[in-house]
Amino acid sequence: MHYFEYIKGELHCEGIPISRITEKVGTPFYLYSYKTLVRHFNVFNEAFQGISHLVCYSMKANSNLALIRLFASLGGGVDVVSGGELYRALKGGADPRQIVFSGVGKKEEEIEFALKSGILMFNVESSMELRAIDGVAGRINKKAPIAIRVNPDIDAKTHPYITTGLKQNKFGIDILRAPMAYRLASELPNLKVVGIDCHLGSQLVEVEPFVDALKKLRRLVDSLRKEGMEIRYLDLGGGLGITYNDEEPPDPVEYASSILDQIRSFDCTLILEPGRVIVGNAGILVSRVLYTKENEEKRFIIVDAAMNDLVRPSYYGSFHQVLPVKKENREEIVADVVGPVCESADFLAKGRKIQKLHPGELIAVMSAGAYGFSMSTNYNSRPRVAEVLVRDDEMHVIRKREGYEDLIRGEKIPKFLLESTLKG
Ligand code: LLP
Repeated sequence: MHYFEYIKGELHCEGIPISRITEKVGTPFYLYSYKTLVRHFNVFNEAFQGISHLVCYSMKANSNLALIRLFASLGGGVDVVSGGELYRALKGGADPRQIVFSGVGKKEEEIEFALKSGILMFNVESSMELRAIDGVAGRINKKAPIAIRVNPDIDAKTHPYITTGLKQNKFGIDILRAPMAYRLASELPNLKVVGIDCHLGSQLVEVEPFVDALKKLRRLVDSLRKEGMEIRYLDLGGGLGITYNDEEPPDPVEYASSILDQIRSFDCTLILEPGRVIVGNAGILVSRVLYTKENEEKRFIIVDAAMNDLVRPSYYGSFHQVLPVKKENREEIVADVVGPVCESADFLAKGRKIQKLHPGELIAVMSAGAYGFSMSTNYNSRPRVAEVLVRDDEMHVIRKREGYEDLIRGEKIPKFLLESTLKG
């Protein structure tokens, strides 16, 4: 359930008609529903009530400061994967003691930044990284709390680009080699082993992979404890899927109840890193129809949002529902919804049945709250779009639309070129 619904034929977000927001901010823009965000976070968090746990929102899904602030105010921590995300998380008001730092390629300056900020733990993905963290920690006189990200070699049955827990993926340390890595970690003087971590992939629509991974981790944790290692945190990563079209993923309560018994047996504080399931269906992308055209084979609806604004359809072939903001009693057509970018891969939807649309009318690309804005780029020198948060009947611009000057920020023409005379 979310708060995007038709009232008298027009799509609303909470109490506001979308056309009214468009008048204020122009198009395209991302639009998030506050009530949906809060509800999704709380439902997920409460699904694990009764066991010691921490929900570390995976901010790569949507890293806007306002969202960070919101989830922090609801008691959430953050999962970060770069110095930039850590910077944002702190600026958004997240408590550093509730931040976990994942990723295969942490740089020394990022490690130092995280240590100085006092994060909860590093999820470490290789032996070399263990040594690097130990080195930085020693240099600045700190003890680094670490968990090892274990790759359990489990097929998450999701899109190959977003599966991460298979041997062939770059992520984590192979479960058979993990004991060796833990031994190394406990010998290095500036590290403190505090937990174990695993993340299987994204957009998982079944619980079995989680159940299977927990079985494998459980055996590993037993043997690590026998060796005297202290495993206080069990980080199960993120990955719970959402409905874009006809997927039927378990809801957070089903997800939690099917793993809770196993989790209890670990006697750990559980950490979860949900991203998509919290924000995915809390956001949409609103765009305006520019032109329509057709040839013998196809019809196209050309809109002002493009693959640089929402890359998921072209990158993963992802399905996003496309709805007319105003439902009219018109003929339905089958069309590709495409943007102005100069690539054939620039589409938001292909072969989609949709009411006939005219230039100037608005469309809503649904389920765009996760990996939408956060993956957007300036390709084709397109300024990045605005982001708006609606709460009841108030709207707040939480990121203003970029202008042309933002496009060239930081660029410089070297002096020798400035001195050369321009032809023509
Ligand atoms: N934790 C780790 C270590 C991750 O790598 C990810 C996502 C998450 C948590 C959050 O996963 P979620 O709950 O959102 O599934 N751009 C792709 C998704 C990439 C996911 C990368 N890692 C997409 O648009 O589908």
